[in-house]
Amino acid sequence: MPRERLVSPELISKDEESFNRTLRPPTLDEYIGQKKVVEKLSIALQAAKQRGEALEHVLFHGPPGLGKTTLANIIANALGSKIVTTSGPALERTGDLMGILTNLGERDVLFIDEIHRLPANIEEFLYPAMEDFKVDFVVDKGMYARTINVPLKRFTLAGATTRAGSLSSPLRNRFGLFYHLEFYEVAELAEIVVRSSRILDIRLEPEGAAEVARRARGTPRIANRLLRRVRDYAEVKAAGEITPDVARSALNLEGVDELGLDDLDRNFLSAIIRLYHGGPVGVEALSATLNEEVDTLVDMVEPFLLQQGFVSRTKAGRKANEPAYRHLHLPLSGPAELPLKFAGS
Ligand code: ADE
Repeated sequence: MPRERLVSPELISKDEESFNRTLRPPTLDEYIGQKKVVEKLSIALQAAKQRGEALEHVLFHGPPGLGKTTLANIIANALGSKIVTTSGPALERTGDLMGILTNLGERDVLFIDEIHRLPANIEEFLYPAMEDFKVDFVVDKGMYARTINVPLKRFTLAGATTRAGSLSSPLRNRFGLFYHLEFYEVAELAEIVVRSSRILDIRLEPEGAAEVARRARGTPRIANRLLRRVRDYAEVKAAGEITPDVARSALNLEGVDELGLDDLDRNFLSAIIRLYHGGPVGVEALSATLNEEVDTLVDMVEPFLLQQGFVSRTKAGRKANEPAYRHLHLPLSGPAELPLKFAGS
């Protein structure tokens, strides 16, 4: 079971999922950030609408929490059609997918999250569905086995993946539209926090929104999650309004610093610098030192630290870079053995 972190970009609970649904912008007009994607998608949608056609199959790729599900829902809203949501690992048998596909109407959207994790047999079953809007379904077994050809309505497949590189090329080639989502600017996240506060009826000073935004690691899902924690703090410890001071105190208490790093991130950097002289050090050694699974470090800790330039991955292992030393207030060429102090212990 991966550990739960306030700053993890993955969804952490069912409750959070329904919370996010209330905050999701229903149209592109209300969507903040991802300007290029919004502009291109808006043109593609308008053209499809003018022709009365389904939108071409669309693939969203990029890190988690940046709006892939939101955009798929916006497409369905814009076309006045229904959306059916599933995910790669949830589709195990062709029969499951057969049921979903045959129930889709004209211009409906089938959203498959984590599409890089589709089992191979399901992926092959999808090819004729995407290309010719038909499926070849095998009924009966042995000498009675027959293939029946079932026509489908012209639907749109919206796929989402964090790893576009691990999609097979036959699948990738069947998409017509590709949109890469980027991390958000702080100003955009602040706008999102202001919008969410309006919806949730939270009193918030603009600088309070900026404080939350700065710590949200470029990710709206994290910004909205931090907003909830800060709202609780404001209601219990302050007069209910989110001022910059309230936001800072609430997030410091949660261990989320000015750049959005938490205890685990800081311990990771601190271990490389203090115990391994800045690296390079293998991730297995760090895993043993920090008592965290290798997968947790690789999937949940390193991506943001790499993206921010705090660490580099080299053949010989992980290395801490100058911004990491500065952030932890450690000298670049310090004494060989610094006393080890972990923020979380
Ligand atoms: N809530 C979450 N992401 C959003 C976005 N990109 N725009 C507006 N509200 C959002």
